[in-house]
Amino acid sequence: MSNRDRMTRFTRRRFLGGVGALGLAGLARLAPADEGHGGARAAAKAALEIEQAAADFVNPLRLPGASGLWGVLKATEVREIRVRRTELAVLPGLASPFWAYAVESGAKRFLNPTLVARRGDEVRVRMANELDQPTIIHWHGLANDDRNDGTGIYVAAPSETYDYGFTVRDRASMYWYHPHPLHITAPQTYRGLAGLFFVADDDEEALRRALGLELGVTEIPLVLQDKSFDHEGRLEYDVPREAMFHGFFGEEILVNLTARPAFTAARRIYRFRLLNGSNARNYRLAFLQGGRRLGFYLIGTDGGLLDAPKRVDQAFLTPAQRLDVLLDLREAREGRPVVLATLGFDPMHNEGAMETGVPKAAAASGGGHEGHAGGAMDGEGKPILRIDVEPTSGYAKKIPAKLSRLPAPPPAGGKPRRIVLAHDGKGNWTINGWQFEMNATPLTVRRGARETWLIENSRASMPHPMHIHGFQFRVLERRGTPAQVRVLGTDSNGLLPQDRGLLDTVLAWPGESVRIALDFTHPFPGDQTYMFHCHNLEHEDLGMMIQYGVKA
Ligand code: C2O
Ligand code: CU
Ligand code: CU
Repeated sequence: MSNRDRMTRFTRRRFLGGVGALGLAGLARLAPADEGHGGARAAAKAALEIEQAAADFVNPLRLPGASGLWGVLKATEVREIRVRRTELAVLPGLASPFWAYAVESGAKRFLNPTLVARRGDEVRVRMANELDQPTIIHWHGLANDDRNDGTGIYVAAPSETYDYGFTVRDRASMYWYHPHPLHITAPQTYRGLAGLFFVADDDEEALRRALGLELGVTEIPLVLQDKSFDHEGRLEYDVPREAMFHGFFGEEILVNLTARPAFTAARRIYRFRLLNGSNARNYRLAFLQGGRRLGFYLIGTDGGLLDAPKRVDQAFLTPAQRLDVLLDLREAREGRPVVLATLGFDPMHNEGAMETGVPKAAAASGGGHEGHAGGAMDGEGKPILRIDVEPTSGYAKKIPAKLSRLPAPPPAGGKPRRIVLAHDGKGNWTINGWQFEMNATPLTVRRGARETWLIENSRASMPHPMHIHGFQFRVLERRGTPAQVRVLGTDSNGLLPQDRGLLDTVLAWPGESVRIALDFTHPFPGDQTYMFHCHNLEHEDLGMMIQYGVKA
């Protein structure tokens, strides 16, 4: 059965099952993603349907405050992070068992604290594992030596601790931290373990001053995660081996662990700092109002601010990636909410289930697209956050034309290193045919080397968000990009808006080749061993990950 047949059948089933908010939004995915072919009316209709589906989004968005969940804390003041079980009322009125990073500091309690640091700060923190399984914290996007990077080769067993000590050397940006133990990263992250790590510098502070931004008030982190719940409010994560081949897709898209969230905003510029913290779901983000997409400004990516703002009206966001955007609500109309949404797109699970060794029934009956627990498909148009705009005014600030100085991409040295993403016909995803092996380091680079890598995703594949530890990189070129993505290209090299910044994660679509430039210069002595992997967390857990060495 073709991908399209499966999609259509699924949508119809949902539709016949009663047009609730979900069913209605489900229709939106039938709108063509490429509007160059007379689909503008259909797109407007789909947008309106998504907006209507946000009518019952009334739960106040959880924001980082002075304590509690997401509470803001100086990274230099954190002494101990306890990894433990807790409860959170994620669905209103229902306490759900969750796992969280718990911190006590100055008589205040924090869960998944939002850590803030400045370049040059020293972080000294002990992780205490209070789970009944091994875990480790990985500081995603921060350049650390391998011991402080935190990966499955350095786990803490139950009731053991692990000490980190590192200098924050990174560009100002929003990074994040999450578990990274071998084969159980996906369930641990899904159960709630994830937090944000902000780095500031002079450029960053200049921007906040210019626009009058305040973290948690007018500068809003948005952690997007899809999860499924049973009727008692317990998280469902029952992903059999064959469903891991696609990844987990949950029914509810939570923002900052708020279900059906709403946020009241003034008519001014807001800064949204988006993290795709989902296990496997890609988002095609847009701000909708009255069936049209509002323009917004992309100002930064994984590795910090761009040179200058870039106006766009949509952007794909793949697992682990961040987008830093400005939305000027003076451009919005009054009396009608603005809805942050994910628009429908073809998820391109083109893996050809029949030849993968994945039992046909499992593949066709929702092993992947629907999630195991009947979760919503990848690529389905859905509302994410409702923004109610208050009729206030008096804000007269303007977006600065210059944001930062982004270093030029490192010059390409020699022939690119080919990295081929494929499946092995037995239900495994591979990188150059490799699967993760504890004692293997199949790829080695020289410290200080400048390399280009050509990441080639095969045609019979899925989108793979590829992440490298230890370094940020630049995208040089995309080829073979599917039409629904290519329309967002900004130049003859096919670069997407976020490809213009520093990245630690890049999405390669089926049939696409992405050429990236890396500079393996870092200050850490001796040999270092890092991970390079797919950040579809189920793929990572299945072994779509390799260790690579940086040698003197
Ligand atoms: Cu965010 Cu290796 O991971
Ligand atoms: Cu990482
Ligand atoms: Cu993958």
